[in-house]
Amino acid sequence: MIKVLFVCLGNICRSPMAQFVMEQMVEERGLSDQFEIDSAATESYNEMCHAGIHYGTRDILTEMKVPFEEHYSRRIRPHDYAYYDYILAMDDSNIEDIQSIVGIDVENKIHRLLDFANKPRNIKDPWYTGNFDETYWDIVEGCDAFLEYLKM
Ligand code: 4NP
Repeated sequence: MIKVLFVCLGNICRSPMAQFVMEQMVEERGLSDQFEIDSAATESYNEMCHAGIHYGTRDILTEMKVPFEEHYSRRIRPHDYAYYDYILAMDDSNIEDIQSIVGIDVENKIHRLLDFANKPRNIKDPWYTGNFDETYWDIVEGCDAFLEYLKM
């Protein structure tokens, strides 16, 4: 079982999008029983508000026919580091924030999702850009590249 936790700042836009895109990809490849996939935030504000998935993420997932369920924001906790095999962040600031919560990445589990792609880069936050289309295609590229890295 490969356990993957996608992480962004709020866990309402990018990381739930990545969670459901990845779930669809592994389902289509017949690999669902080999993966456990979830997502989390680095800040706690949306968890305190019991915030669900942002409408922009819902709209693009619906448009792209990516199945999704309700997901409520939760903050990453120190024990997540031991539990998950891969902690995949959206940008550099997520990496810093994750490390401040879970400690030093001694097992090399923490990566940016697009570090697996040909052009390593951050995934911009659509909370600020409003561009959920761009986020979606970056996430598809990253998830594809990650599965390629795993040779799956
Ligand atoms: P996300 O976007 O990190 O992609 O989920 C954000 C969502 C909410 C906030 C910031 C970024 N916020 O400040 O509440």
